[in-house]
Amino acid sequence: MRWLGQAVRILVVSYIVADAATVSKRPHIVIVLGDDIGWNDFGFHGSNQIPTPNIDALGYNGIILDKFYTQQTCSPSRAALLTGNYPIRSGTIGEGSMQGTPITAGENRYLPLDMHLLPERLKELGYRTHLVGKWHLGSALKRYTPSRRGFDSHFGYWHGWVGYFDYMIQQTLEDNVTTYNGLDLHHNFEPQWQYQGQYATDLFTRKSLDVIDSHPLQEPLFLLVTHLAAHTGREGVELGVPNITRTDETYSYIDTPERRRYADIVNNMDKSVGQIVNKLSQRDMLRNSIIIVFSDNGAQTVGTYQNFGSSWPLEGPWKGPKEPPFDVEAILNSPVNKAIEKLPDHSPLSRTDILSSRQRLDISWCRDQNFAPNFVPRTVPVRHLP
Ligand SMILES: *[C@@H]1O[C@H](CO)[C@@H](O)[C@H](O)[C@H]1NC(C)=O
Ligand SMILES: *[C@@H]1O[C@H](CO)[C@@H](O)[C@H](O)[C@H]1NC(C)=O
Repeated sequence: MRWLGQAVRILVVSYIVADAATVSKRPHIVIVLGDDIGWNDFGFHGSNQIPTPNIDALGYNGIILDKFYTQQTCSPSRAALLTGNYPIRSGTIGEGSMQGTPITAGENRYLPLDMHLLPERLKELGYRTHLVGKWHLGSALKRYTPSRRGFDSHFGYWHGWVGYFDYMIQQTLEDNVTTYNGLDLHHNFEPQWQYQGQYATDLFTRKSLDVIDSHPLQEPLFLLVTHLAAHTGREGVELGVPNITRTDETYSYIDTPERRRYADIVNNMDKSVGQIVNKLSQRDMLRNSIIIVFSDNGAQTVGTYQNFGSSWPLEGPWKGPKEPPFDVEAILNSPVNKAIEKLPDHSPLSRTDILSSRQRLDISWCRDQNFAPNFVPRTVPVRHLP
């Protein structure tokens, strides 16, 4: 029987060798972030207007975070995600501050350079780190930009939004005189004029798929995809869709033309999530991945940058007297990490916990532990718009 033992041992050894060559020891982490998408605009929250089957499927097979607290606007929310700190910790005034209004085009404000960001921390753990899409955490100097703040690569834009097809940022400052208007689509520091005319959600999806395709399997991947969808584009009013005729046909049951466009934009972002999950599956990375999907903050339901999203039943737009203290929907899905199944129910979670709850997900460290985590599996009743 000795030969049999030998054979088994050889098989086991070769299995381990093969596996070590193709499987990263740490899980891949993929975060897909929407922009200004409302609480009421996902199927898993009961939206009966906007189909989001891919995100719903991730949620129903994963965990729906139903008390995922956020900052109300873009730069503070993204700062919290990447630093694991409340924005107030970056100072309330001056160049480094991430508290308050989002950074305007040309403004010399940035994430303080002594803050150690999520991609930098993951790099220390051997991750390859990539950002596709929006940054909006400072770009007045090169050292404020993502490829100098821990990302091996960045394809996307530095400011708050761009056009859905022309990738131009147009912003008039509060003096009503100074206007910034220029291309904001970069691969690291190289302007990318050649993509003008291509639809932003599709372009960022393709670039994300390229990142996954060229990723060496034995190393862990951190991919952050920050879509333009569903922020308004160009001068802050564009709701860009690939084919307006098709949008009006597909969403003819929605009365308001702008909301039809918004619905299509959100649906396209959902398709992007589906394509990314498919690609992870094709490369056999899915079984070793943690996927998180959420929006930076709620919908801009009125006023500047109004995008016709719905935050019902929460009151108010992101900026106003009835501003909701929290808003955002998040989906956490991890076939690999059984730890999430043991997490306790019903306690609040915030943006900052994405970084600090890594420890609970058996990944690494902990800094600003703010809340006990709240990973609540649940079923969601279908609701109707008021
Ligand atoms: C700029 O325009 C807005 C809206 O018309 C107005 O409320 C504001 O006072 C103007 N600001 C300046 C500095 O003129
Ligand atoms: C846009 O959609 C309409 C309706 O579905 C279709 O007939 C048309 O060919 C589409 N246009 C393009 C350029 O794809």
